[in-house]
Amino acid sequence: MKTLGIETSCDETAIAVYDSKNGLEGESVFSQIDLHASYGGVVPELASRDHCQKIITVLEEATSKIDLESIDQIAYTAGPGLTGALLIGENFAQGLSFSLGVPLIPVNHLEGHLMATKIEFPNIGYPFLCLLVSGGHSMIIDVKDFESYSLLGQSVDDAIGEAFDKVGKLLGLPYPGGPHIEKLALKGSKNKYNFPRPMLNSGDLNLSFSGLKTAVLYQVQKIQDLNDEVKADIAASFQNAAIEILVAKIKKAIIQTGHKSIVISGGVAANHALRNKIKSLEDEFNCKVFYPSMKHCTDNAAMIAYLGSLKSVDKNQTKKSCVRARWPLTEV
Ligand code: KG4
Ligand code: ZN
Repeated sequence: MKTLGIETSCDETAIAVYDSKNGLEGESVFSQIDLHASYGGVVPELASRDHCQKIITVLEEATSKIDLESIDQIAYTAGPGLTGALLIGENFAQGLSFSLGVPLIPVNHLEGHLMATKIEFPNIGYPFLCLLVSGGHSMIIDVKDFESYSLLGQSVDDAIGEAFDKVGKLLGLPYPGGPHIEKLALKGSKNKYNFPRPMLNSGDLNLSFSGLKTAVLYQVQKIQDLNDEVKADIAASFQNAAIEILVAKIKKAIIQTGHKSIVISGGVAANHALRNKIKSLEDEFNCKVFYPSMKHCTDNAAMIAYLGSLKSVDKNQTKKSCVRARWPLTEV
């Protein structure tokens, strides 16, 4: 069974083909980072237009070694995300489905991130605990079984990736700030600034990053010479505080659920300091920590094709629009 996956929920145009027997057979991602860089964030209208411009080239690249006639079904991201961007992916998926005569499977982007680790580690068993950390979401999820998800905690304000990006902007780094902060932090001292750890002791599994981001803003405003050394110390101290919050909450979640498999996914899971800190919990809690390959942490279509390959087709859905800007994971 070959599933073609399409991802256009934000600023990546991506297409991949996953074969249930042979695994990933082709994938291509076009990132719009350069297009949005000067705005310091994603401009929805520009994102939609660029998906239209690039999607056919991305399809050609992803399927250069695959006969389109051999595709059995098409999965596409129907939400959550930017409505205009999602509609481009859906419309393209509908056109392909009509011309190839194959069914469509609308899938949830967050569920894609949640399952992405299983592309490379298909044997991760249920239940497992997932820390889903991206530009739009920060969640701790009890993955009881496939399609059975319970939200244990989430950010009550900014997503962690959003905080990385905003701090990046304060330090004059390019968009998105996350990878640049990680690089800069390597040169700085993580104990130089004692930034707050909001909700660290809240007693629940919810998270908060807005206060941490504001504390960085106030610190930056106080500094007269924001030189490279100072920037590196701020980046390292911010990253350290953010990771400490995530680690404390994931520890609490491990104790609460007793789960022995921990998965970190989403764009922020590409951060090596976070990966290593959570990996180091393996001995303490007698658990195994997994994360996707770097390219499958940030937005990609391999996770959408893979997820689609696990879903059953609802033939009635093929003809109607399923796009949802907001689509909670618990409603999949
Ligand atoms: O999953 P993703 O590609 O898109 C969403 O679904 O949001 O995540 C993008 C987010 C951005 O906020 C970006 O700054 C962050 O992931 N990110 C990182 C790193 N790489 C990407 N944050 C921290 N360290 C990184 N290495
Ligand atoms: Zn994403």
